[in-house]
Amino acid sequence: MHLPRALLVALAVLAGAATHPTLAQQPAFQPGAETPEVWPAGPGREETFYQCTACHATGLITRIGMTRAQWNDIIDQMVAKNAMPEPEAADRKVYLDYLSAAFPPRAPQQGGGNWRNPFQPQR
Ligand code: HEC
Repeated sequence: MHLPRALLVALAVLAGAATHPTLAQQPAFQPGAETPEVWPAGPGREETFYQCTACHATGLITRIGMTRAQWNDIIDQMVAKNAMPEPEAADRKVYLDYLSAAFPPRAPQQGGGNWRNPFQPQR
C-alpha cells in the first residue's frame, strides 16, 4: 500500500511531537498561577491555601478581611452553597486560625485588629 508522501511526513512530525521531550514536558501555561508564598507566612498557610484555592482565585479571599466568626460563616457558605466538602473539625480550626490571623478585619476595631491608618503617625 502506498501512502501519499505528504501524509507520511505529517505522521512523522506528529509522532516526533508526541515523543519530543521538551514538548512533552512543558507544564501547562497557567495565567496568574499563585503559590502559598504569596500569602502571609503563618501556621496553616499551605493547608488553607490548597483547600481554599482549589475552586477559585486567591483574590476572593485576600481582598477581604474578617473576624474568625465571619471566616467560619464563609466556610459554612462554601460547604452549603459551593459544594466544598465539609472539613474535619481539626482542619476547620487550622483554616480559621490561619485566615483570621492572616486576613483580619482591616477597619479599626474596638480593642483589636492590626489595622493602622497609613496617614496617621505610627504609635
Ligand atoms: C468546592 C469549591 C470551593 C472551595 C473548596 C472553596 N470555595 Fe470559596 N467559592 C466557591 C464558589 C463557586 C464561589 C463563588 C460563588 C459565590 O460567590 O458564592 C466562592 C466564593 C468565595 C468567596 C466570595 C463569597 C461572596 O459571598 O462573595 C469567598 C470569600 C470564598 N469563596 C472563600 C473561600 C475560602 C476561605 C475557602 C477555604 C476554606 C473556599 N472559599 C473554598 C467555591 C469554593
